[in-house]
Amino acid sequence: MSGVQFPVGFRCERLHARHSRKTFQSDESAVDEWLRTRALQNQEKHLSVTKALLDESQVMAGYYTLATGQVDFGDLPAEITRRLPRRFLPVAVLAWLGVNRTHQRRGLGRLLLAQALRDCHEAGQTFAFVAVILDCLNDSAKRFYRQWDFEELPGHPYRLFLSAQCLELLMNEP
Ligand SMILES: CC(C)(COP(=O)(O)OP(=O)(O)OC[C@H]1O[C@@H](n2cnc3c(N)ncnc32)[C@H](O)[C@@H]1OP(=O)(O)O)[C@@H](O)C(=O)NCCC(=O)NCCS
Repeated sequence: MSGVQFPVGFRCERLHARHSRKTFQSDESAVDEWLRTRALQNQEKHLSVTKALLDESQVMAGYYTLATGQVDFGDLPAEITRRLPRRFLPVAVLAWLGVNRTHQRRGLGRLLLAQALRDCHEAGQTFAFVAVILDCLNDSAKRFYRQWDFEELPGHPYRLFLSAQCLELLMNEP
């Protein structure tokens, strides 16, 4: 996956109080509510980091939130755990991702996902994790993520994972 190129005039930066969080509207109220009420607060508490994608008018076109987490050995498929210890294992969590309704279906969701995975990969050079995990809010979101290499966690149909090995391969694709 080569470097992520957002459309001309767009830029992606760490969420800041000056960003227009209140006007953000995706098709999913939980995604909007998180941005409006919790994303900045959680960032200030060092619980998660949110990146805002701003358009030419400084309107927030999209965002994603990353955090760290743990999953139990038993929840991961054998292909990941084969040579790992039987304990809680570190994961990167793509906690939220959304694109403003007026900007949807123009490829920004795909670009934001690519950038989020780049961030995970970069962080993984310093803080190790065995997979990137995300929870889908609905079937539509699941279809969106399944277009890439995310797979279902056994017994958790709405929790998807991408192993650190797959992430590495993805990042090294031309
Ligand atoms: C899901 C979401 C982030 C996609 O953003 P987007 O900018 O519209 O997506 P893109 O334009 O990059 O689309 C990329 C691909 O995914 C497909 N796609 C986009 N939204 C989709 C959806 N809801 N269901 C299925 N496929 C979808 C597109 O058709 C496109 O495929 P193509 O290139 O083969 O045509 C956006 O619809 C959104 O914010 N939804 C509400 C919030 C949400 O559900 N977030 C995810 C859970 S936290």
